[in-house]
Amino acid sequence: MLTQTQKNRVEELLSQMTLDEKIGQMNQESPSIVGGFDVPFPELIEMLNDGRITQEEFGKIMSTAERDFHEDDIRAGLVGSMMGDDPVKANELQKIAVEESRLGIPLIMGFDVIHGLRTVYPIAIAEAGSFDENLFERTARVAAKESRAHGINWNFAPMLDVARDSRWGRVSEGPGEDPYLASVFAGAKIRGLQGDRSSVENYVAACMKHYIAYSACESGRDYNTTSMSVSQLYNVYLPPFRAAVEAGALTAMASFNDLNGVPCTVNRWTLRDILKGSLQMPGFVVSDANGIRECVTHGIAEDDADAGVQAANAGLDMDMGTHIFRDHLRKAVEDGKVSMDVIDDAVRRILSVKMWLGLFDHPYVPEETIRSNAVIPDEHRAVALEAAKKSIVLLKNEGQVLPLDRSRKISLIGNLADMSEEVIGAWAMSWKREDCVTIRSGLENAGANVTYYPCGGPEGEIDFAQVEKACREGDVVVAVVGELVSMSGEASSKADTRIPGKQREMLQAVLESGKPLVTVLMNGRPLALKWEKENLPVLVEAWHLGIEMGNAVAAVLMGDENPGGRLASTMPAMTGQCPIYYNHPNTGRPGSKSKFTSKYLDAPLGPAFPFGYGLSYTTFAYSGLTVEELEDGYQIGVTVKNTGDRTGTETVQLYMQDVTASLVRPVRELRGFRKVTLEAGEEQRVVFLLQKKNLGFWNNQGTYVTEDGLYVFYVGANSEDCLCERVMVKF
Ligand code: BGC
Repeated sequence: MLTQTQKNRVEELLSQMTLDEKIGQMNQESPSIVGGFDVPFPELIEMLNDGRITQEEFGKIMSTAERDFHEDDIRAGLVGSMMGDDPVKANELQKIAVEESRLGIPLIMGFDVIHGLRTVYPIAIAEAGSFDENLFERTARVAAKESRAHGINWNFAPMLDVARDSRWGRVSEGPGEDPYLASVFAGAKIRGLQGDRSSVENYVAACMKHYIAYSACESGRDYNTTSMSVSQLYNVYLPPFRAAVEAGALTAMASFNDLNGVPCTVNRWTLRDILKGSLQMPGFVVSDANGIRECVTHGIAEDDADAGVQAANAGLDMDMGTHIFRDHLRKAVEDGKVSMDVIDDAVRRILSVKMWLGLFDHPYVPEETIRSNAVIPDEHRAVALEAAKKSIVLLKNEGQVLPLDRSRKISLIGNLADMSEEVIGAWAMSWKREDCVTIRSGLENAGANVTYYPCGGPEGEIDFAQVEKACREGDVVVAVVGELVSMSGEASSKADTRIPGKQREMLQAVLESGKPLVTVLMNGRPLALKWEKENLPVLVEAWHLGIEMGNAVAAVLMGDENPGGRLASTMPAMTGQCPIYYNHPNTGRPGSKSKFTSKYLDAPLGPAFPFGYGLSYTTFAYSGLTVEELEDGYQIGVTVKNTGDRTGTETVQLYMQDVTASLVRPVRELRGFRKVTLEAGEEQRVVFLLQKKNLGFWNNQGTYVTEDGLYVFYVGANSEDCLCERVMVKF
């Protein structure tokens, strides 16, 4: 990661540092709220949490609050990292670190830039559905550039939690349920964030998170316990992190959850043995916010000091949110509970990342760069629009209602259609309202003949008189329904994942009117869509698509864009099916009509829509699947033909099943995909090369094995709809 000269510089610095300065590097600060109101800040948070004050009142109080940026501690060399997105403040603090601290070590500035900073693009679960590796990289490049221009040089992204349970609100932030797709996403994001080192203004250090298995929280409840076999950990949750490290990922964030009883913050096996050991991640690990202290609450540490000792020894290098390292590590070293080697290793890693970032030579954001933040560059907006368009998934289009005829009068209903704050998705923090294009404005921009009727949304009552008026006055009703941004993301688990509130009744009223109905979903999690699938003729999954959401949705509705997005996550029929995912292991009694098989009495076995699913305004046919054995793998070919009447893009998906293995293996596993754009009537032979070494899996000893036996290769349009070929494989 560093040149020899840079390594020498790090060692030289390390040799000059006092123990307190070293521990200072392991301490991350964020601006503390210190006053400007009558109650202490923690109580204010409690008041917000227990409903004594509203979010709005909280916001008002916070806008007048005073902040402590810990300048004195920075000056004393006791801070290694700061959080924030204000470049002017970043420069001020950096100046103190560089010019006023004894050794002049710059701060590493971290921030959550999950799906864009100012140019907010689709939430990850949506973007993953574009199945477009090059796009994954380009959106990350935009994020990296904007981050640097805002004084941020370390992004708490990508979020790589493979998520199979849509009750968990944070499914929105990650690349969906499939380890292979998530790994492609991971590698591309790392290249996008870290790859363009032609100028320090173009790259940041990535922080992959949440390491690890955070998304496997029991019952989909955020922060809940996780337990799993070694094989499951290695086959499902680890692959995107491995791919990220292979692409050069420098840092990681330890997750809040315990894994098989050991919180990931103090988990020596996952941190030292796997992440820093076998995966060889070169940089450092930061805790999640307050994570070290939470080990006391978990009941794994006696007190703060003990939690700090356990964390440092386990391989956690930086403390986010508590001052436990700052306050307790010195004594722990003096008492022999933490060795100097552990401290030096952590500090060496942190300094190395700072060196790699060029911070020692370029600590400040240039003035003209700060000025250029005033507007979003056109090319950034263009990437956001492309990403938004490519993430839209057409789920149903009965009667070919879409695309809409330009002459038709559109009645637009559903408050989500007109709420600019709802396009951005959970975990976007530096967006500006004026940048956001709602679906209403998107349709207006596209010149559609549209009238908006405020009828109600995810919360509160529906104004049925307005619904009736909308039905009466329009030729077609476009209803935008789903979830508010605040209903997914962190600490937003749900036990009922149907479309919330009375929105279904609103849709029902339109159906009863007999007017053609197009339903557009805006949501951060896969919703339980049994009723919608059965009753709604036209269904478009639009997620939270970022600032260009409205223009992208309008392009699809009006037919300027032929939708090509796919589901990166299974859409359940009912919440009670969760966790539901396509690549599940086989049971001895796969669900069928007979009684004693694995199924429900009161719910379908299958999802509403499977992983990889998505329609187009044209149709595609698959034929001629061939499998040819090569020396070290297989050449798998299929003919894909555009059988409709317009150009479209198909995502051709390759799956495999290891039918006879020493462990029960998934019924299907994605092993490749290819996007092909075909004109009406055009056909193309799509060929995949699947190497034999990629047919294996990780066993319960954490060893990758490949085994002789029967395999099935599947190629098709989604995880259910495939052609297949059986093959006896010998290694
Ligand atoms: C979240 C992380 C985030 C961190 C810092 C935590 O609550 O779990 O994803 O990076 O806060 O903002």
